[in-house]
Amino acid sequence: MDRKVTQQVTRATFDEVMVPNYAPSAIIPVRGEGSRVWDQEGKEYIDFAGGIAVTALGHSNPTLVNVMREQAGQLWHLSNVMTNEPALRLAKKLTEKTFADRVFFANSGAEANEAAFKLARRYAFDNFGPEKHEIIAFYKSFHGRTLFTVSVGGQAKYKEGFEPTPGGIKHCDYNDIEQLKAIISDKTCAVVMEPIQGEGGIIPADVEFAKQVRELCDQYNALLVYDEVQSGVGRTGTLFAYEQLGVTPDVLTTAKALGNGFPVGAMLATEKAAKSLSFGTHGSTYGGNPMACAIAEAVVDIVDTPEVLGGVAKRHGLFVEGLKALNEKYHVFKEIRGMGLLIGAEMVDSLTGKAGEIIKAGAEEGLFALVAGPNVLRLAPSLIIPEQDIAEGLARLDKAIAKVVANNKAA
Ligand SMILES: Cc1ncc(COP(=O)(O)O)c(C=O)c1O
Repeated sequence: MDRKVTQQVTRATFDEVMVPNYAPSAIIPVRGEGSRVWDQEGKEYIDFAGGIAVTALGHSNPTLVNVMREQAGQLWHLSNVMTNEPALRLAKKLTEKTFADRVFFANSGAEANEAAFKLARRYAFDNFGPEKHEIIAFYKSFHGRTLFTVSVGGQAKYKEGFEPTPGGIKHCDYNDIEQLKAIISDKTCAVVMEPIQGEGGIIPADVEFAKQVRELCDQYNALLVYDEVQSGVGRTGTLFAYEQLGVTPDVLTTAKALGNGFPVGAMLATEKAAKSLSFGTHGSTYGGNPMACAIAEAVVDIVDTPEVLGGVAKRHGLFVEGLKALNEKYHVFKEIRGMGLLIGAEMVDSLTGKAGEIIKAGAEEGLFALVAGPNVLRLAPSLIIPEQDIAEGLARLDKAIAKVVANNKAA
């Protein structure tokens, strides 16, 4: 059955037919290869954004394309009325490679977190009773856009106008153990944290803080939930970031890079915690579908190798050196920080709120980059971005920063 695409669509079409919750850039990319992308006009871009820390193995990765084609010709979907081979293989791999004994598959980061938060409530309900239901999370954290995940998330703007939000959730400052000590109690069922805050501005956890959070969770019989939706699957140079903190969570969520862009998320849990999501307590039609799991299995196979993980540390060095050199020239950043290929550069006070201008100027120069809040330029490229693409992208970033600096001087 042949089918021809005949509709002509442009960026203006977005404003006509899409819900206005996004404000996409003027560019419509149509093709990608590795860390390069081309738009409708044939203009080429270097991709330092990675689809927001998703395309860890680049665009149209040939191995993943083959795995996808093969699986597409075999079996797409069954629902969880039946299990399937790719899901079982992927779950086995994830449990072998991590602290976890059990896996629940979802389709996104928010859904993986939704499962984790429900599990935390249910685990406490089963083992300690309904009074133990409080979830503690951190200001500036981001855990997704469902009502439960915006409520656990530590950014008020995502909740505004959507109240009443679920109750029993408390927040305190990240990397401040005294604040946590002041609000944790026997009522706490879980502490939820990103090992490095992503959307909040690329803020890594202090190792000592992370260790003490673990100790407090043990003391109060609370589950420690790590949201590794952004930091997981090799992004920080280890398969998961918790490995570098020397802290083992009870529950971990992953998504983003897990499918390299094919929607898939997962919640990993210890045997003890997982028991509480017993038959009938939670579910998803698509979660764990054979297409997503076949691709994710290949992603994990490729990422969890010394070549890829070792390459992250090397590339981190190249990016940080490059950003430092740009900073010596333009004095635009007050701090360059991050782990692996999740890098943030915070704008100096005179350019507060201007990170978005760099992104815009970057796009004009043929570069995709990201912000993490209004003051932080964020880079989250493919873990295997070629060195010449890093150099070329940094050269384009140089031109973009020059433009922004000149515009701000003129203003
Ligand atoms: C740490 C973290 N958790 C959860 C999410 C939500 O993931 P998704 O957009 O796939 O629902 C994100 C997305 O940016 C994230 O960075």
